[in-house]
Amino acid sequence: MLILGIETSCDETAIGLVEEGKRILANTIFSQEDIHREFGGVVPELASRSHLQKIDLVIKKGLKVAKVGLEDVEGIAVTQGPGLVGSLLVGIEVAKALSFTLKVPIVGINHGEAHLYANFLVREIDYPFIGLVVSGGHTALVEAREPEKYLLLGQTRDDAAGEAFDKVAKILGLGYPGGPIIDRLSQKGEEMKGKFPRPYLKGNDDFSFSGLKTAVLRYVKSLTPDQQEKEAPSIAREFQQAVIDVLVTKTLNAAERRSITRVLLAGGVASNSALREQIVREARRRNIEVYVPPPSLCTDNGAMIAGLGFWKIKGGRRNSLSLDAQPNLSW
Ligand code: KG4
Ligand code: ZN
Repeated sequence: MLILGIETSCDETAIGLVEEGKRILANTIFSQEDIHREFGGVVPELASRSHLQKIDLVIKKGLKVAKVGLEDVEGIAVTQGPGLVGSLLVGIEVAKALSFTLKVPIVGINHGEAHLYANFLVREIDYPFIGLVVSGGHTALVEAREPEKYLLLGQTRDDAAGEAFDKVAKILGLGYPGGPIIDRLSQKGEEMKGKFPRPYLKGNDDFSFSGLKTAVLRYVKSLTPDQQEKEAPSIAREFQQAVIDVLVTKTLNAAERRSITRVLLAGGVASNSALREQIVREARRRNIEVYVPPPSLCTDNGAMIAGLGFWKIKGGRRNSLSLDAQPNLSW
């Protein structure tokens, strides 16, 4: 069964064409980075307008790459939430129009669940597992005992992990999106050995990164412009290390506490090279298996939506044409 997946929850207009939930025929993305860069973050009105302008082109390009026609599509999966309401609506309305005209089923998809599913696009994975979804809008730790059944163990109380990367990059005057820039810059930095706090929030599985971001801001403000420029790589490295220490420790601790020996990473921040290395290294010491998708499947994409959509449609899930955006959709 060929599924068209549509993803417009934030600043990527993305579609995927995936067969049987596994075989990616196309994974086409128009990134709005250039549009939002001058504002240092996503401007919702500009995001929805750009989705509207690009979605047709992205679908056409995807069909061309996959060498299929719209008439070959057998089901439509679309991100229903969480995300920016105006952006979600563009994808949803296009998906509904296609479902109606092609007479194929439509199913709404939870964006966070689709991020986790990106792992299954690459290989078979057994249950149960602990999933860490770290993206620009969300930080969530979930336990999955069987497909589609999630227990939310913890989530961010303030800034998401990716949001903290983006804000710290802005503080350092590095540009947008901050994650990949900090990832690269910190490779040139020196260790600052615990200069910034590690917010472990002991005794629960929640996360909080806004205090860490404020600590970076305070430190940067105490420096002269020359020092700021000189120290930027080390500040980036120490900030990144603080986020990684917290994510890795809390995720592996949760797995051990719940007697689960499998951990899946997902979301844009999961493409961070130092995070990937450190979690693999520490998990090995604790006899836990770690799965991380390739970076192109960590950041927002349509293949993860189409892939998960296949299993939902195959399992009999359908939405009607009254399907609506759910900007705050949870687990
Ligand atoms: O999953 P995603 O593409 O979109 C959301 O669902 O939000 O995640 C985007 C986030 C951004 O905050 C971006 O800065 C961050 O992921 N990100 C990274 C890296 N690549 C993207 N963070 C750290 N290191 C990276 N290499
Ligand atoms: Zn995402």
